[in-house]
Amino acid sequence: MVVVSPSAPHPDTAESPTLAIRNITKIYPGGTQALRGVSLSLRAGVVHGLVGANGAGKSTLIKIIAGVERPTTGDLLWLGSSTDWRRPADAQSAGVAVVHQQSPVVPALSVLENVYLGNEGTGLWRPQDRLAEFAALCERVAFTIDPHTIVAELSVGDRQMVSILRALAQNPSLILLDEPTASISPAERAGVLGAARSRAAAGVAVVFVSHFLNEVMQICDEVSVLRDGQLVDEFDRDGMSVDRMVAGIVGDRLHDVEAIKPVHDIGDVVLDVRELRTANTDTSVSLQVRRGEIVGIAGLLGSGRTSLLRAIFGADRRAAGEVVVDGKTLSASPQAAVSGGVAFVPEDRMGQGLIGDWEIWRNTSLADSRSLSRRFRFLDVAKERLLASRARRELGIVASSIDTAVRDLSGGNAQKVVFAKWIYKTHHVLLLDEPTAGVDVAGKADLIKLIRDLAERGIGILVVLSEFEELLSLVDRVVVLRHGAIETEFSADAVSVAELTASVGGLA
Ligand SMILES: Nc1ncnc2c1ncn2[C@@H]1O[C@H](COP(=O)(O)OP(=O)(O)OP(=O)(O)O)[C@@H](O)[C@H]1O
Ligand SMILES: [Mg+2]
Repeated sequence: MVVVSPSAPHPDTAESPTLAIRNITKIYPGGTQALRGVSLSLRAGVVHGLVGANGAGKSTLIKIIAGVERPTTGDLLWLGSSTDWRRPADAQSAGVAVVHQQSPVVPALSVLENVYLGNEGTGLWRPQDRLAEFAALCERVAFTIDPHTIVAELSVGDRQMVSILRALAQNPSLILLDEPTASISPAERAGVLGAARSRAAAGVAVVFVSHFLNEVMQICDEVSVLRDGQLVDEFDRDGMSVDRMVAGIVGDRLHDVEAIKPVHDIGDVVLDVRELRTANTDTSVSLQVRRGEIVGIAGLLGSGRTSLLRAIFGADRRAAGEVVVDGKTLSASPQAAVSGGVAFVPEDRMGQGLIGDWEIWRNTSLADSRSLSRRFRFLDVAKERLLASRARRELGIVASSIDTAVRDLSGGNAQKVVFAKWIYKTHHVLLLDEPTAGVDVAGKADLIKLIRDLAERGIGILVVLSEFEELLSLVDRVVVLRHGAIETEFSADAVSVAELTASVGGLA
């Protein structure tokens, strides 16, 4: 007998999976085949990891289980019986909760309203009961937040936590987490990972999608690897290793993470930030970035990293201080920054004006026309298409052509489109907020190489990256931000991940 997926940790539940997926195929209208005969079992008490490159089919599988998409062929068996979920509500009432990759929260509503939206249950409930229930939910994930805060005021990370609370509030038997940690800080991740594990311990079947393979190692009981829509490997804890996952994910795709940083020339100061004070702090920041230099900003969540980048870009109306680029003082507006040769790839990339119906090339060229000056409105179409082709090649955007609509891309590939729309439009300074979030292992290597290339062309780069190992492999120098002020700085060669972590936390 060939045992494909041995020894579940809960032998008593191994008999009847919560959900059995049999030979699922998905062909999207338009012809993209996203899944090719995928079979797997999701069992109570088991955290099932799902890994694969950008575009491998992970979210498609999640959407099929959640009733958002329907399979082209194949069957789903819920607790042993065949099901045919036609809409998300069908899956939800069976007991499936999902945190989608781009989880929709309603910015105008409060945290509490978001958590219980469409989830009100039956009968009457008293506000104080709901608050008590909310408090218990938060405790499960070791998360503290004021339930009355309006979601629009939350960070990307906190919004993600709200989506997770919303899924947990449904008391599901199966919970699907599609990259729940992609855009949140390492400190917050522990809460999400702990929540996944504790739900499994309580008998819930959990699916966990992530490009952070160390997280998969940490919390998953078994792992399935998807490549080009096919299940290429599966293993349980005994067979689990990061190397094995990487091998399955990239297959024969070229994968060269350059460990050795190329030596490159560093020129004159191109970005000079003088006593810049953001709206949220009463301390100010001064720093300089030279041509060809890559400077990292390290700090905990709330240390002011994103606010600082936004203020440099002129997006913080209440900021005070001076930003000098290539010798010229910028007036404080994104328009002035853009025409002064500054580009900003924000953390919330999906919120940054990607237009789903538009093709890749139109998104990379025009998506930010509002902030560009009038003369940019008349597009040189041939040139823009050429640029989009270059972006597709250099960033490895998986799509049949630059004429593919952005809504047909996988999450990671859509992120690369936003990235692409900025990086070729700058000639002096590039500001990057978490540039590798949501990008697969091979894609990260491509991105890092691309960022280095841009530096080599003489652009000064300022980057926020929460993965310190990745940060140190990329930058020349790192400044530590605490409570909106620069505490100290290190040369990247002279500091270890452990030292940086200690410094950021105020322990060194
Ligand atoms: N609505 C859609 N219409 C057409 N094609 C789609 C649609 N959604 C996804 N695809 C395509 O299906 C394939 C699988 O995409 P999917 O979103 O499942 O990938 P993924 O593994 O989740 O990737 P990522 O890590 O980037 O999130 C990709 O080629 C993608 O372009
Ligand atoms: Mg996805």
